[in-house]
Amino acid sequence: MTDRNTSTPSATERDDRIESHSAGEVQEGIPFIGAGPGDPGLLTVTGKELVEEADLVVHAGSLVNSELLDRFCADAEQVTSIGKDLEELVPLMADAYEEGRTVVRLHSGDPAIYGAAIEQMDALEAEDVPTYIVPGVTSAFAASASLRTQLTLNGVANHVAFTRPQGKTLDPEEEHISEFVEMGDVTTCIYLGTHAIPETMGRLQNEGHDPDTPVAVVYHASWPDEDIIEGTIETIGDRVEAAGYRASAMVIIGDAARKAGYERSYLYDGFANRSSSEADN
Ligand SMILES: C[S@@+](CC[C@H](N)C(=O)[O-])C[C@H]1O[C@@H](n2cnc3c(N)ncnc32)[C@H](O)[C@@H]1O
Repeated sequence: MTDRNTSTPSATERDDRIESHSAGEVQEGIPFIGAGPGDPGLLTVTGKELVEEADLVVHAGSLVNSELLDRFCADAEQVTSIGKDLEELVPLMADAYEEGRTVVRLHSGDPAIYGAAIEQMDALEAEDVPTYIVPGVTSAFAASASLRTQLTLNGVANHVAFTRPQGKTLDPEEEHISEFVEMGDVTTCIYLGTHAIPETMGRLQNEGHDPDTPVAVVYHASWPDEDIIEGTIETIGDRVEAAGYRASAMVIIGDAARKAGYERSYLYDGFANRSSSEADN
């Protein structure tokens, strides 16, 4: 691999296309499409139309439901990105695009969340292949829907943190899960942390967090084998270990996971008759 810190654009260089295009608009180039959390019905309409037209679909392997690929692009060439580095992926997509084939890149959930899309896009742009993003439903939203709750809930949580635990990518001092939980009115959504749930919960207990804080783990949200395990900071580690899940789950910490103790919002009380400029709740 090349040096991970080289050739990234300067923060002051603004892309002209930001002015002329909005999200959801089909543009010239290779779309980086959010496939959603799994259920093919959770792919956006634009995403589906683009996938249906593709000759080459480069997808995120087992994180993209094969049912989606079978349903929308059975005739396209399908290539998994798993096990391929940038030096392999970029020419694969660039060569196909330059040959006049219709190429799409399918990321799981939304490419903006732990997707590593930008480095691929920049590398393609450096080869004069234009790219753009078509958003998708991130897995935290699917997990929240499966739990029949909201990540923000009046009187319970006013903030949401999308985060990940320490590991190969994140040094221990860069992990902020404990700080988010400490804030109290934050719903903490942990990506990429299924394998480390007992260790993460152990750290939270060692740091003095209430062991009864609710935690929900949603494995394969929106897939046919979706499973929900509920517990607390104290109990969830053993429960997930007993279930045997080591990947592909969303960990949600906070009272919103149990939707307990919320208050009615202003939206549906007398304030609903305010002028529309005030009604932002
Ligand atoms: C590389 S990240 C990609 C996240 C993706 N871009 C998104 O927006 O959901 C992979 C992590 O997302 C979470 N994830 C992806 N799909 C999921 C699903 N269907 N149910 C629960 N968690 C999922 C898991 O935490 C997994 O370890």
